[in-house]
Amino acid sequence: MSPTLRTRIACTVYPSAGAAALAVADELRARLAGYPSLVLGLPTGNTPVPFYQELSRLHRAGLLSLAQATSFNLDEYLGLAPGDPRSFRAWMQTQLFSQVDLPANRTHLPDPVEPAAAPEESRRYEQLIREVGGIDWMLLGIGRNGHIGFNEPGSARTSRTRLVELEAKTIADAAKTFGGEQHVPRRAITMGIGTILEARAIRVMAFGSAKAEIVQRALTAEPTELVPASLLAGHADVRFLLDAESAQLLGQ
Ligand code: F6R
Repeated sequence: MSPTLRTRIACTVYPSAGAAALAVADELRARLAGYPSLVLGLPTGNTPVPFYQELSRLHRAGLLSLAQATSFNLDEYLGLAPGDPRSFRAWMQTQLFSQVDLPANRTHLPDPVEPAAAPEESRRYEQLIREVGGIDWMLLGIGRNGHIGFNEPGSARTSRTRLVELEAKTIADAAKTFGGEQHVPRRAITMGIGTILEARAIRVMAFGSAKAEIVQRALTAEPTELVPASLLAGHADVRFLLDAESAQLLGQ
């Protein structure tokens, strides 16, 4: 671990993605022990896989319960049929919800509605978050273009949950899952940056050399809407958890 890097946002560098995932899972376990009805903000993607595996392992070992917790995912694609195995809902079901004791009626993702219904669905999602008192602990990944959730470059710092058009880089990164870029949905509903910034604690994981450049920009540049993750600077409790590869350009 290297606590000496000079960055605008606090970060910790771990020897491996697995070590970082263990540290995040440990933090969550400690928080749940003190406050079992935690409200979580959760990501999909490659980055959180070892974290969800660790939560599943801790649960099987009787060391972690999400029985009183509530979850809100960051985003969901539009244009897929409900129940589509490539939806984020299905992904979360496989990776986490089926592995732990989080009650199904307290797991939330935006519904994959028709675009015309997206404004109403977005308001409903924000309202649900407000009704449970806001998000206590939010985990994020970061896209190669700096997006958090699906807040692509140019998203306003004050943005709320809404329909967004995905950028070319985001579509390219999802192509494998969908069997080609032409099959990737072009639209999604995402929590806004303003919504994310209201979470009481924010943790961001980024692993691998493909993230090194954007991690450097997000952590060291003047905060700008062109690099959405850089807008996390100034949040009262935010930390990036990196592996050596994603941190390789920091401190240069
Ligand atoms: C996923 C999400 C995205 C991902 C980001 C990184 O719900 O909101 O912001 O966190 O695209 O994706 P991976 O982890 O696949 O590199």
